[in-house]
Amino acid sequence: MKAVIINQFGNPDVFQIGEIDIPKINNDQLLIKVNSVGINPIDWKQRKGNHKLILGSPFPIVLGYDLCGEVVQVGDEIKRFKNGDMVFGALDNKYGGAMAEFAVGHENCFSLKPVGISINEAAAFPMVSLTALQALRDKANLKPGDSIIINGASGGVGHIAVQISKLMGAKVIAIASERSWEFVMQFKPDEFLNYNNIDITKQNKKVDVFFDVIGTLSFPKVKHLLKSGGIYLNLNYLHSLTKIPVNVFHQFFSNRKKAKSLLMKHDQSDMELITNWINENKLKVSIDTIFQMDQIKQAHEYAQHGHNKGKNVIVISE
Ligand SMILES: NC(=O)c1ccc[n+]([C@@H]2O[C@H](COP(=O)([O-])OP(=O)(O)OC[C@H]3O[C@@H](n4cnc5c(N)ncnc54)[C@H](OP(=O)(O)O)[C@@H]3O)[C@@H](O)[C@H]2O)c1
Repeated sequence: MKAVIINQFGNPDVFQIGEIDIPKINNDQLLIKVNSVGINPIDWKQRKGNHKLILGSPFPIVLGYDLCGEVVQVGDEIKRFKNGDMVFGALDNKYGGAMAEFAVGHENCFSLKPVGISINEAAAFPMVSLTALQALRDKANLKPGDSIIINGASGGVGHIAVQISKLMGAKVIAIASERSWEFVMQFKPDEFLNYNNIDITKQNKKVDVFFDVIGTLSFPKVKHLLKSGGIYLNLNYLHSLTKIPVNVFHQFFSNRKKAKSLLMKHDQSDMELITNWINENKLKVSIDTIFQMDQIKQAHEYAQHGHNKGKNVIVISE
């Protein structure tokens, strides 16, 4: 099959389009004919080799986690899907494997594609919506009436987090640059702060949750913006492990305020909840740019620049 492969870690020049074997499935897996792949920052971080100490260097590597495509083979234990189903989800393999004509994942990674959205939109949804949902519900314990600051509200996770926070009944203060104002305001945050012309840490505000999606701040820098018992949350999971001693020290002197981090989990019921929200028109994903498979280098350069509004997607096959 045709696949986007890397044989070394490095800049976007390491990508090649080559031929590799179609992956084999286990009894509890599905084989998907891939239509579209959503790009996430983890893809370009892994291309650079950031996770090689944990995941190794099993070249040739096929990157990419988020996809939408058609089920073409199911393992003997698969109950929920059959050949011909259109599904979307985030793969659970080391390094993903989505950027190829065929990809493999376990059943709990997928849900049936909602009918009212495009294939590209479906491919853009999984990782950012699972992350935002699990962060806000499981880590931040966000409740109706709570207030939350979302730093990085215009990116993939951020624009979904604004919508889910509103669905949960919270008051949302969104942070992004001035050029993202119009984009973010369509998701109806209660307030918008432009990080270019104000110092967030000097704001006279008290919130229940500070969700540092983009990770430019830290618990010590913003804990004074939290109410008593408030939660600082980021997505920089590995880096956060090294910060535990510092955060514990700051938590000790900070009136029950807590610093937390999240690593997204594959969860079938969360995929179903997200699918329901999409079907009910309560959650939408916004696509910044759509690239073709042979534009993979440009796609990673653009995504890595870090100023997309919403998501970028790669079309593998129409
Ligand atoms: N732990 C996990 O399980 C997990 C899961 C998913 C993602 N993540 C991580 O979460 C982070 C965010 O992911 P993402 O998909 O949302 O990234 P993204 O789409 O690349 O984020 C881009 C956005 O960041 C905003 N931004 C850039 N610099 C900023 C700044 N200084 N202050 C505030 N906003 C800024 C940009 O807005 P402007 O253009 O307006 O500047 C842009 O809209 C990444 O580091 C990713 O690896 C972790």
